[in-house]
Order: sequence, then C-alpha cells, then structure tokens
Amino acid sequence: MRRVVYPGSYDPPTNGHLDIIERAGGVFDEVVVAVLINKSKQTLFTVEERLDMLREVTAHLPFVRVDSWHGLLVHYCQQNGIQAIVKGLRAVSDFDYELQMAQMNQQLSGVHTVFMPTSPLYSFLSSSLVKEVATYGGDVSHLLPESVNERLKQRLAERR
Ligand code: PNS
Repeated sequence: MRRVVYPGSYDPPTNGHLDIIERAGGVFDEVVVAVLINKSKQTLFTVEERLDMLREVTAHLPFVRVDSWHGLLVHYCQQNGIQAIVKGLRAVSDFDYELQMAQMNQQLSGVHTVFMPTSPLYSFLSSSLVKEVATYGGDVSHLLPESVNERLKQRLAERR
C-alpha cells in the first residue's frame, strides 16, 4: 500500500487543498489528510471543526483518511507506516521553506517529500488570504468548497 500524508493547518480547507488531495490520490493508494496542531498559532476554526470540514469535502474520495496530530510530522509518519509527505507548491516563494522542511524531515526519518505543483487556478490561494478577504466582505465562494464557505460566513458573522 502506497500511503502519503498531506499535512497542514487547514484553517479552513480550500479548493487548492482539495485539488492536491485529488491529484495525490492518482499517485498513492491512500492519502492521509492530517491537521497538524500548533498550539502557538491562533486559528479561526477548532481542530474538530477543521476535521469535520475535511471529512465533509473529501467524503466522495474513498482513498482519503482524515486525522490530526500534535508533534513532529515524521513521528506521525513513523507511527502510521507512512513513507511519504506530499506538499503543494504554489510559486517559487514556497520553495525555499518547503525544501528546508523536506530535507530536515528526510534527515530525521528517511521519509520522502513529494512536491506537487498547484493548479495555476489556485496558485494565489491561501487559507489566510481567503480569511482576510472574507473578513472584509469579499466573495471567496469560488475558492472554497460550498460547505466550507458557509461555515466561514457563519464564523465571521459570529465574530462581528
Ligand atoms: O498549512 P501550513 O500551516 O502551511 O502547514 C505547515 C505544516 C503543519 C505542514 C508544518 O508546520 C509542519 O509540518 N508542522 C509539524 C511540526 C514539524 O514536524 N515541524 C518540523 C518541520 S521540518
């Protein structure tokens, strides 16, 4: 079984994430979408909410498993028999830091990182930009799965 983990904050998941998940499913037998918990990072959605959103938007993809993890990504890989990490690359600006993490993870554990170029449709897309645009009333409905967009609108309305 070729298994890969797609780690991230997913605060919230976007169409860009979904695109990478779907394409990783064409290369690997199982794609584990893992919400990495970083207690020092403030998030709009709780871990449970992010897991729920990911489960909803990947319900039609039989090769996806959704999970969460607090700690080093390579330890998660070791404990779950995962041989590879997949990361989406949007632009050259992503590359420096991603390369550094890939090399660190490889040295720590031997786990490989596979880079997948993001679709040009989503090369400008990030969860933080989506939140910023939505906070000031911009329409981000074309950038998010419908259920995520609804939850985002609701969360922002609660905060007003
Ligand atoms: O969606 P994000 O916030 O850009 O994802 C970054 C993430 C969670 C993939 C990265 O910070 C990570 O792998 N964190 C887990 C902790 C870890 O293993 N750190 C060492 C990296 S070399």
